Amino acid sequence: MNLGHMDRYAKSLMKEAGHKIRISFFKQIDIDSKADANDLVTNIDREVEQFFISRIQRDFPEHKILGEEGFGDDIQTLDGVIWMLDPIDGTMNFVHQKRNFAISLGIYVDGVGMLGYIYDVMREDFYSAAKGEGAYLNDERLPQLEITPLEQAVIGISASWIAPNRFVDNEKMIELVQRCRGTRSYGSAAIELAYVAAGRIDAYISMRLSPWDIAGGMVIAQEVGAVTTNMKGQAPHLLGQEPFIVARPGLHHDILTNYIRLKE
Ligand code: IPD
Ligand code: CA
Ligand code: CA
Repeated sequence: MNLGHMDRYAKSLMKEAGHKIRISFFKQIDIDSKADANDLVTNIDREVEQFFISRIQRDFPEHKILGEEGFGDDIQTLDGVIWMLDPIDGTMNFVHQKRNFAISLGIYVDGVGMLGYIYDVMREDFYSAAKGEGAYLNDERLPQLEITPLEQAVIGISASWIAPNRFVDNEKMIELVQRCRGTRSYGSAAIELAYVAAGRIDAYISMRLSPWDIAGGMVIAQEVGAVTTNMKGQAPHLLGQEPFIVARPGLHHDILTNYIRLKE
């Protein structure tokens, strides 16, 4: 397997898809909902996923594809090469704001993340990493993350997890919000992972993420020393939805042991 070739190929595919999304604002965008009225999907999410899949199937026929919109393969195990794709992460932002969304792609070999990409399409910020070779924002290498105490940390978290919810003890989350320096919520898990990797926020927490939300970002974040786990401190299993945390080392342990109380 030629990872260098796959890396160049994936980067150019991401850029081409980003261009398609930018010009989509000049044509009709049809908005549907999926699991509930606020779970949005558009014709552009579907078209971009189909674009990736047709290219990958043509040029890497032995690889499998896990895509959010369901045009890829039915993935039951992580064996072999799997491209994990979210064609638009942050569809609500895509629809409402026309910014703050990203294409997210992770390429995994037998369950190990080898290549990761997040493309913040409107800012044209391209985050990428190859396992063991560091992470980049465009052409600049991202530095290793240093330890930051909670009192100086900015945490990416949605208000959903501070309000009473079925996943986690929200009183402990209130405590977390009160102790940290500040909170942010960008509405795209991929962008929040990229921001942790770039040192713009210090942690990101969500109680319900899917493999395509985190696959690309995990490769990038790990390259700068961020810790990426589920809320039990284990590696995410990448075969279904799970609670997820990415944070600087030290801070990850502090948040997990002192503030996260799962309900189940
Ligand atoms: C969503 C975004 C959002 C996160 C949701 C995801 P989508 O992805 O990443 O920030 O809170 O859990 O489902 O649906 O826009 O691809
Ligand atoms: Ca997503
Ligand atoms: Ca999506």
